[in-house]
Amino acid sequence: MTDTITITDDRTGKTVTVPITGGVFSSAALRELDPSLFMYDPAYLSTASCASSITYLDGDAGILRYRGIPIEQLAENSTFLEVAYLLIKGELPTTQELEKWELDVTHHTMIHENMRKRFVDGFHYDAHPMGMFISAIAALGTFYDDAKDIFDKDSLEKQVVRLVAKVPTIAAMCYRFSQGLPFVSPNNALSYGENFLNMMFKIGDDYKVNPVLAHAMDVLFILHADHEQNCGTTAMRVVSSANSDPYTATAAAAAALYGPLHGGANEAVVRMLTEIGDIKNVPAFVESVKAGEGKLMGFGHRVYKNFDPRATIIKKAAYDVFEVTGKNPLLEIALELEKVALNDEYFIKRKLYPNVDFYSGLIYQALGFPVDMFTVLFAIPRTVGWLTHMQELLNDKEQKISRPRQWYTGHDERPYVPVAKR
Ligand code: SDX
Repeated sequence: MTDTITITDDRTGKTVTVPITGGVFSSAALRELDPSLFMYDPAYLSTASCASSITYLDGDAGILRYRGIPIEQLAENSTFLEVAYLLIKGELPTTQELEKWELDVTHHTMIHENMRKRFVDGFHYDAHPMGMFISAIAALGTFYDDAKDIFDKDSLEKQVVRLVAKVPTIAAMCYRFSQGLPFVSPNNALSYGENFLNMMFKIGDDYKVNPVLAHAMDVLFILHADHEQNCGTTAMRVVSSANSDPYTATAAAAAALYGPLHGGANEAVVRMLTEIGDIKNVPAFVESVKAGEGKLMGFGHRVYKNFDPRATIIKKAAYDVFEVTGKNPLLEIALELEKVALNDEYFIKRKLYPNVDFYSGLIYQALGFPVDMFTVLFAIPRTVGWLTHMQELLNDKEQKISRPRQWYTGHDERPYVPVAKR
């Protein structure tokens, strides 16, 4: 039996037989039946927008692999910069390749003084760090004329290194500005996660990053690095398809991530748990969600209809962090909420399980990050995934500028009516 699908247009009796490859078939075949026929698929629930070899998800089995390697093994054995290399280059680096990559990234962590002094100081004192982050990424591109040479391999590689290296610096700068604290310059002697925590929290010369917390930060970065065609990555691909530069496209992807249904969920989870306030309020809160009065933030996923493997790893990492920082008082409420929801028909029927955002906020809060920094913490590692997808799109001969069609449901032609006659 050949893997094909045959579509018949009952209006004309015409049929078209299309090969099924890797679980997809080309919807272009419909045009052979009728050039004016299009698939209607709001929010792309049943549409594959691209072919990709970067990340594999199996929503039912709770599988997540970067370039074929299971996320559990990467979280256990790798570092974020090694995973970044794996995603961007497609293979794990040799010792020499990793050393050069780490050196390149480490030596591009600084940002232009004008960004620090003039651009950031222009924000209102209580600007949301994610709004600052998105603006700063777009602004960063204005410092590099060669940013637009996206088809020059060396130039694009240079922009990729710059963005991977500078997003922690920008994130820390946004935080320090919002706290009214002096900026802390990158320290090339520290690892990626250590350097970020140092730029964030250093007060006084005797400040030292706790290695357990630096490791937890690195694991969290690994878990958030990529997730195939999520909303933010789709935004990255759409903007990149117009051949925009990587800074502009990354700012667009970060803008999508900012949404509370996407990367903004980790912030919304902690606000939700804080609002619940006590374990005894959990049953009433769950009932309010079931009554449609709001969502159980941190639960549910478009792809994972079973557990999100990242949530399992994060939950374990949380205990390592709490060993050092002391337990986050919201943990008990989160555990109770998870227990109640996982045993409630409303959530079981809808296949709603904790996603990556349900526990990550508890760790971030225990690490000392304010809630409005949480989505910025998601954007730092996801910048690697976004840039990897941009590269893949630019090298994909089947891709061109994204321009979907529509189902027009508006008025038929009608005349202009002068205001006196309306
Ligand atoms: C991320 O795509 C990715 O990979 C994203 C991400 C990544 O790494 O990039 O994994 C990161 O964004 C994780 C998701 C974070 N968002 C949240 O935690 C916000 C809360 N969750 C939802 O809003 C929702 O579950 C989504 C947005 C995550 C998924 O939404 P879908 O796939 O469009 O599902 P849906 O809204 O159609 O829900 C199906 C049903 C609906 O009920 P009915 O209309 O059938 O009665 O489930 C209900 C929804 O109302 N539902 C929820 C719910 N999520 C879905 N009900 C209560 N609480 C929830 N969290």
